[in-house]
Amino acid sequence: MKLLQVSAEIFPLLKTGGLADIAGALPAALRQAGCDVRVLLPGFAPILQDLQDASLVAHLVTPWGESVTLRQGRLATLDLLAYVIDAPALYLRNGGPYEDAQRQPYADNCRRFALLGWMAGQLGQGLDAQWTPQVVHAHDWHAALAPAYLAFSRERQAQRVASVYTVHNLAYQGVFAPQNFHDLGLPDAAFSIHGLEFYGQLSFMKAGLFYADRITTVSPTYAQEIQTPEQGCGLDGLLRARRDMLSGILNAVDDSVWNPATDPLIPFAYDANNIAGKARCKAALQAEMGLAEQAHAPLFGVVSRLTEQKGLHLVLGAIDELIGRGGQLVVLGSGEAWLEAALRERAQRDPLALAVRLGYDEALAHRIFAATDVTLVPSRFEPCGLTQMYGLKYASLPLVRRVGGLADTVVDSTLEDLAEQRANGFVFDDFCAGGFSQALRRAFALYARPEEWSAVAQRAMQQDFGWKAGAEKYLALYRQVASPMGA
Ligand code: ADP
Ligand code: GLC
Repeated sequence: MKLLQVSAEIFPLLKTGGLADIAGALPAALRQAGCDVRVLLPGFAPILQDLQDASLVAHLVTPWGESVTLRQGRLATLDLLAYVIDAPALYLRNGGPYEDAQRQPYADNCRRFALLGWMAGQLGQGLDAQWTPQVVHAHDWHAALAPAYLAFSRERQAQRVASVYTVHNLAYQGVFAPQNFHDLGLPDAAFSIHGLEFYGQLSFMKAGLFYADRITTVSPTYAQEIQTPEQGCGLDGLLRARRDMLSGILNAVDDSVWNPATDPLIPFAYDANNIAGKARCKAALQAEMGLAEQAHAPLFGVVSRLTEQKGLHLVLGAIDELIGRGGQLVVLGSGEAWLEAALRERAQRDPLALAVRLGYDEALAHRIFAATDVTLVPSRFEPCGLTQMYGLKYASLPLVRRVGGLADTVVDSTLEDLAEQRANGFVFDDFCAGGFSQALRRAFALYARPEEWSAVAQRAMQQDFGWKAGAEKYLALYRQVASPMGA
């Protein structure tokens, strides 16, 4: 199976969130399952720098008349064959991949990411004479025009390259003013309610949902939720209409990156059979963060983008209670200015019990999962969520809201689920201070029973979140849509 995966991010080269973790791990998992996988990426600096043995595929002119170059080589860090769009004027900038240093979206994001989908369409039409994919798998809105270009190219030719589109987060849609449509080089028919038109604007997300042969999202529960008006972000009608093409495939965890027995980024290794190293990781983090070095204070952690989605105002509102009950909290995150300021200010009042680190720090994230007893993920909505699974693997029991992928991965420590040896964390339903506080109290109550806590922690660590099952599910989907041509 020849497969082209298209995304804007890829771990460990470029990451702003969970999308990168998945885009980085899925190719290796699919290769293990026997696929011939290549990736297509925008030429951001860290990606170009990692590309080795690069050769020229083509010089091309985009539909809006800009000259760009497609190169093919091997990403050394991932040992992965990649096509990289070399377009310095579009991709080499100060700031992040989507926003400038002041956190403002780049004014030309429409072109920057239309190019990604357009290039996937070119590769699907045989741009590289040596290799044509059978299936193009596009991730999130950045790559979501790929299915549209492929659908229209199919109308012109016999060759049929199939497309799969994965929604990692329906809330980020890539919606642009209608006058940008002429840049895209798509037929006028595409700017329609039966196409990528969305309330008079053009929507990359809608293009992916409308034109892809199959739609997936990253957990079974989120696949249901996005078909409702509450969580459908205006696209639930389309998703309901296409529900037979929609499925939820739960994200997995890359064990070569997230495993406390082998993780080079944590100070002391441990596993389910010998968890002693975890206490040492905790003591080390308390010292590093200036927290009181108390072995028996339950240590809570947050590793998160600080956005509305993540429900962290609930954590902010519960800090008094958490500290009052003898707990400690460490927060690593970056995002909305008001939340950063509120956390920073609150930390100054209780430096021995609350440590806040603002910014993005991959290594510190690992140390936090290894050190903490509980990982807090009280999201308003959560397509899948990875940090609760990292928490489980590192015996930092997740405390989550019952929503999206969190509902699919965490089982509350109720008496009955403890008795049936199913519990692996703490879950609340109502998105309010009262709901969060109840789950917090449940965590304290279990922590006060060390034997039961250890049993739950051990079970959490032994759960299988490996990629094998997920890769098989994607492969089954590719087989449904792939034509044998180009094999
Ligand atoms: P989302 O993709 O919505 O941000 P996920 O839970 O799927 O949520 O993935 C988040 C990923 O980003 C995880 O790998 C998490 O460890 C990482 N992460 C989030 N914020 C930070 C941060 N400030 N520093 C380091 N890693 C972070
Ligand atoms: C998105 C979602 C998150 C998911 C990640 C990877 O960023 O917010 O829930 O885990 O993508 O699929």
